[in-house]
Parts: sequence; C-alpha cells; structure tokens
Amino acid sequence: MTLTIAIDGPAAAGKGTLSRQIAEEYGFHHLDTGLTYRATAKALLDAGLPLDDEAVAERMALEVELSGLDRSILSAHAIGEAASKIAVMPAVRRALVEAQRAFSKKEPGTVLDGRDIGTVVCPDAAVKLYVTASPEVRAKRRFDEIVGNGAVADYAAIFDDVKKRDERDMGRADSPLRPADDAHLLDTSEMSIEAAFQAAKSLIDAALIKK
Ligand code: DC
Repeated sequence: MTLTIAIDGPAAAGKGTLSRQIAEEYGFHHLDTGLTYRATAKALLDAGLPLDDEAVAERMALEVELSGLDRSILSAHAIGEAASKIAVMPAVRRALVEAQRAFSKKEPGTVLDGRDIGTVVCPDAAVKLYVTASPEVRAKRRFDEIVGNGAVADYAAIFDDVKKRDERDMGRADSPLRPADDAHLLDTSEMSIEAAFQAAKSLIDAALIKK
C-alpha cells in the first residue's frame, strides 16, 4: 500500500522546503506540482506559442516529463507568471492532474505539494497539511531569499506580487486554492523551518498511528 502526504498552501509559505524534508524523513518520493505547471509554461514560451490557447497548452501539458523537473531552471518570474495563466485552464489541469495522480501511487509513499493536492489530486491522502503564513511574512521571505542570492529586490513589488498570486490561486473557478476539510493547518508565520518541520512530523506521526 502506498502512503500519500498532501501539502497545499499559497506561494512562498515554505511548502517546498517542508515537503522535501518530509520526503527525506519518511523515505518517500516527492513531487512539487507547481513545477509541472511551470514546465508546461516554459515549453510554450520556448516554442513561441500563445499562452491563451487552451488546446495548444493542453498538448504541451500532456508531454511534460515528471522525472526531469528542476526548479532552478523553472524559477524565472516570467515562467511563474505564465504558469499561473495556464493553471486556470481545465484541460491543462486535467492533463497534469492525471500525471500527478500516477506519481502519487509510487511505493512506498509519496509527498505531493501544490494548491489542490488534498482537494482534487489526492483526496484520499493519508495526511493533508495546509501550510500558510501571512502575506507580509511570505513577501519578506522571498525578499530575503533574493537579496541572499546577491540580487536587488523591491519589497513593495514582491508584496504586491504575493497578493496578486493569492488572488489568482484562490479566485480561479477550477480547483481554487483552499484547505481540504480534513487538512491540518500549519501557520508558519512565526515559526522557523525546523519548528515547522517538527510540527508537521508530529501531525504526520499522529495521523499514521491512527491508520
Ligand atoms: O508553486 P508555484 O509558484 O511553482 O506554482 C506555479 C503556478 O502553478 C502558480 O500560479 C499556481 C499553479 N499551481 C496550481 O494551480 N496547482 C498546483 N497544484 C500547483 C501549482
């Protein structure tokens, strides 16, 4: 039997780091589903294809290879913007969700993170976490990350971007971002990464014991 851990939440809430740590702790496979939307968007941008043609975007989504996804080549701001545009298209979501579900069945277990894992992709996941933090804290984390990499950052612009991304993720008609009814909420606004990991681990261990 495969155990799946579903981790959802808004952009820059710390889901990525947390998911990787959890996957390592339990020896599970990890899929950052945001990368599947980003890879589809990058393929369209690279081919010079439009971002507003659902049939064209669906064809690209059907070709995304889950094994070669790498955030370092998909992190560009323009790719994130393009990804959030095609993520509203039902045909694109259908194609990517099917690939994500197939991934979620890998033995001995999987960790998937994104926006709709607990609600749509893996509604039967053994454990669901909804990881969040205030928009101010998320913007500050992104700001620190960019400055930490030696680049120049504008906090006001980043804050604005975080709020816009939230509106798009929570406001779309198909699979909007929201906690599943049975998700455990984890607000990391005032937690270190280590504290968030320990809190997540306690929730997961408690849930797994009950299974
Ligand atoms: O988490 P991210 O920034 O890499 O996600 C890129 C875009 O894809 C973002 O606009 C939200 C969208 N997305 C989604 O709609 N569903 C998911 N499961 C994951 C990401």
